[in-house]
Amino acid sequence: MKRIPGSIKLVVITFYCLAGLFALIQTDAFAKDASTQQGKAQQLSKLDNATCLGCHELSNGSLHVSGAKSESGQPHGISQEKFVKSVHNEMQCVTCHKEITDASSPHKLGPGPKPDCVACHLELWETAKKENLTNEKARLGVVVRNVETYKNSFHARPNADDKTRVNAACDDCHNTHIFSVPPQGTTRRTDWHLTIPMVCGENCHADQLEEYAESIHGKNVLEMRNLKAADCTDCHTSHSITSTLKNTFKLSITENCGTCHTENLDTYRDTYHGQVNKLGYGYTAKCYDCHGSHGILSPSDPKSKVHPNNRLKTCQKCHKEATQGFVTFSPHANTSSFERYPQVWIVSRFMWSLLAGVFIFFWLHTGLWWYREAQDRKARKVHPERRKESK
Ligand code: HEC
Ligand code: HEC
Ligand code: HEC
Ligand code: HEC
Ligand code: HEC
Ligand code: HEC
Ligand code: HEC
Ligand code: HEC
Repeated sequence: MKRIPGSIKLVVITFYCLAGLFALIQTDAFAKDASTQQGKAQQLSKLDNATCLGCHELSNGSLHVSGAKSESGQPHGISQEKFVKSVHNEMQCVTCHKEITDASSPHKLGPGPKPDCVACHLELWETAKKENLTNEKARLGVVVRNVETYKNSFHARPNADDKTRVNAACDDCHNTHIFSVPPQGTTRRTDWHLTIPMVCGENCHADQLEEYAESIHGKNVLEMRNLKAADCTDCHTSHSITSTLKNTFKLSITENCGTCHTENLDTYRDTYHGQVNKLGYGYTAKCYDCHGSHGILSPSDPKSKVHPNNRLKTCQKCHKEATQGFVTFSPHANTSSFERYPQVWIVSRFMWSLLAGVFIFFWLHTGLWWYREAQDRKARKVHPERRKESK
């Protein structure tokens, strides 16, 4: 057999080595490619919270996805930090967001319903009742109670401009993603409570908030963090808010002021206005007709509606013919304070002494009379003029 020359051997071996190496590189690359493909497919079907937050995490205040609404100023980001502290922290995004069926951008929205606090929580409560867990899950009962009161409120009605939505839904006041109720008595609870005027005012009731911020209540709440002063919900309630034009509101608001200003409610009840109001008529002067509603100031403030300079004008809203003399009437006069209401004090003391004097004189006189009678009987004294009368 003829021997193959060494040089050809070398060429063939080199060829095979190179071919092998090439193949190795090729398959490796293929494998890599395949694994990324597979990964992509997996990610597309993954609907866990981490994936969602991959795009929706609120950092720097906006969503980092091109085409997102946040670029036009609409918030779309979720703060993961706050979400994990919320009452819904153990839930999957897609448990609520049944309409989201992919993790692509933008989503092709599925047919599922949009999340709805009311429907979901009514169902949860029914389940808790069936399982006899109403005591353990008492807080869920609070949610349902709030739903019930909310249902009859002004906010649950269709909006006048856009009938497809209500005036204010739960998540307009409570951001579902971060909603959590701090325990009573903690500073976090105080902080939460102090945000109420902003919740009402920032997006919807800016005019009222502006006026309120200048009032004695607003200054106490917003500047001095005084929880004892009235915020929006102390006067309007939080979930059973009614139209302020209704008679029920006009009657209940008086009681609401009175829960804090008990003395003023008592003295108001003693007046003509208060009596008429108590009988169920809302047309008469109520606290806010004289004091205003959102811009209430101390009566000593020259801008107050009941400051002596402005009082006549305030009364004239209803008492058209009133003159300066009319406002000497004190809506909160009481008989116990000489410094504030000296005339009333003097008149009341005079009436008391008159009453006491009459009774003292009466009993003294009668007593002396009886005494004389007794003495006369003892002395068998004859009174001819009396016998004549009795004949
Ligand atoms: C690849 C990025 C990305 C991922 C992952 C993602 N989203 Fe989105 N999502 C977006 C973008 C972008 C928009 C905004 C589209 C727009 O503004 O029209 C959006 C909008 C939404 C909306 C508002 C839809 C509406 O009514 O217009 C919801 C709800 C939502 N995403 C939930 C989710 C949930 C739940 C997940 C996890 C399953 C998720 N997203 C995962 C990018 C993403
Ligand atoms: C307890 C239920 C619930 C959970 C859990 C939940 N959401 Fe929402 N989400 C809502 C509600 C309610 C809305 C408001 C819907 C509306 O007004 O149409 C909303 C709105 C959104 C929107 C629209 C943007 C906006 O602010 O209006 C996005 C985006 C969104 N959610 C993403 C998520 C992501 C991401 C998660 C998981 C980290 C998540 N949600 C978890 C209930 C939930
Ligand atoms: C898709 C269903 C769903 C939606 C929508 C939803 N929740 Fe919840 N919510 C839950 C579940 C589940 C829990 C936990 C229940 C438990 O503790 O057993 C919960 C818990 C709560 C709790 C705490 C109860 C406790 O045990 O302390 C409150 C408060 C609450 N939700 C309020 C709301 C509000 C307000 C909204 C709307 C802004 C809302 N939820 C929307 C399902 C939902
Ligand atoms: C107009 C705004 C507004 C709307 C709409 C609203 N709430 Fe509230 N809600 C409030 C305010 C304000 C508070 C805080 C009250 C407080 O601190 O005394 C509150 C408190 C709560 C609490 C905590 C109660 C407690 O005592 O711990 C729950 C639960 C709640 N709301 C559920 C709901 C549900 C469910 C809906 C929808 C059916 C809803 N809210 C609609 C304003 C609103
Ligand atoms: C001291 C009680 C009180 C407080 C606090 C209060 N309101 Fe009012 N509000 C009233 C009274 C009384 C009326 C009805 C009479 C009127 O229109 O002035 C009213 C009326 C309204 C109306 C109906 C429209 C209007 O102006 O007549 C809105 C809206 C309103 N309030 C929002 C708010 C908001 C938002 C806050 C918190 C920033 C707030 N209120 C705080 C007593 C109050
Ligand atoms: C007819 C008008 C009128 C009505 C109605 C009225 N007030 Fe007054 N209020 C005044 C005047 C005027 C003052 C100034 C003090 C004075 O002259 O007695 C005043 C003073 C006050 C003060 C300051 C503290 C004080 O005692 O001087 C408070 C608080 C107050 N009113 C609350 C109320 C409440 C609460 C109601 C309803 C239950 C109410 N007012 C109804 C006119 C009214
Ligand atoms: C939640 C309790 C609360 C409610 C409800 C409330 N107030 Fe007040 N109000 C306060 C507090 C606290 C102050 C501040 C007292 C102070 O600084 O001396 C105040 C101050 C006032 C003052 C000034 C008192 C002064 O001596 O300068 C008037 C007037 C007043 N409120 C009227 C009203 C009227 C009218 C209503 C109902 C429409 C009302 N308040 C509802 C708590 C309340
Ligand atoms: C919202 C309207 C309203 C305002 C504001 C008002 N009143 Fe009256 N007031 C009435 C009504 C209604 C009666 C009952 C009159 C009747 O039925 O004849 C009444 C009755 C009275 C009466 C007893 C009956 C009478 O006519 O002599 C006095 C006194 C009085 N008001 C004083 C005042 C004073 C002072 C002010 C201002 C600080 C004031 N009122 C503000 C509506 C108002």
